[in-house]
Amino acid sequence: MAAPSAMNKQPWEFVVVDDPEMLAKIRQDMTYGRQETPLAILVCVNEEKARNDLNIDSFWIQDCSAVTENILIAVSSLGLGAVWLGVFPVDDFIIALSKTLQLPDHVIPFSLLYIGYPDEQKDAHTKYTEEAVFWQQYGNRYSK
Ligand SMILES: Cc1cc2nc3c(=O)[nH]c(=O)nc-3n(C[C@H](O)[C@H](O)[C@H](O)COP(=O)(O)O)c2cc1C
Repeated sequence: MAAPSAMNKQPWEFVVVDDPEMLAKIRQDMTYGRQETPLAILVCVNEEKARNDLNIDSFWIQDCSAVTENILIAVSSLGLGAVWLGVFPVDDFIIALSKTLQLPDHVIPFSLLYIGYPDEQKDAHTKYTEEAVFWQQYGNRYSK
């Protein structure tokens, strides 16, 4: 929850699930997320907390992305493994998880994290590629 958030609204809320029956229901809801782990965390936005004076209503997507990434980093620092499953903006997943986890209307599920014990430890690696970086203006190649 140390993640940055637009206007410091911290609009995120979390549902932590370790009940095997609930985890099984969640796996049914997630077509591309059937991994079996002993823990899941659903990251949600509480739209009432996200409301701001500028009436900009979608900054929360960035807030929830930052908080999700922070969880991944924290999980990894504990020697555990996690996978980020995209929930928002897929209507089927939003509707199914909202029902399973009894979310009120003003709470929208954003991402689901499955957390468990990794089968393998991978060395830290980068996906850095110069092709994705431009210098001063788009189109100018950047090289180190
Ligand atoms: C928004 C988002 C949605 C994702 N959805 C899924 C998913 O539904 N199922 C899954 O197995 N992985 C999902 N992932 C994980 C990606 O597949 C994974 O990050 C990518 O393949 C790169 O692998 P790496 O993170 O191990 O480097 C998602 C990641 C993000 C950021």
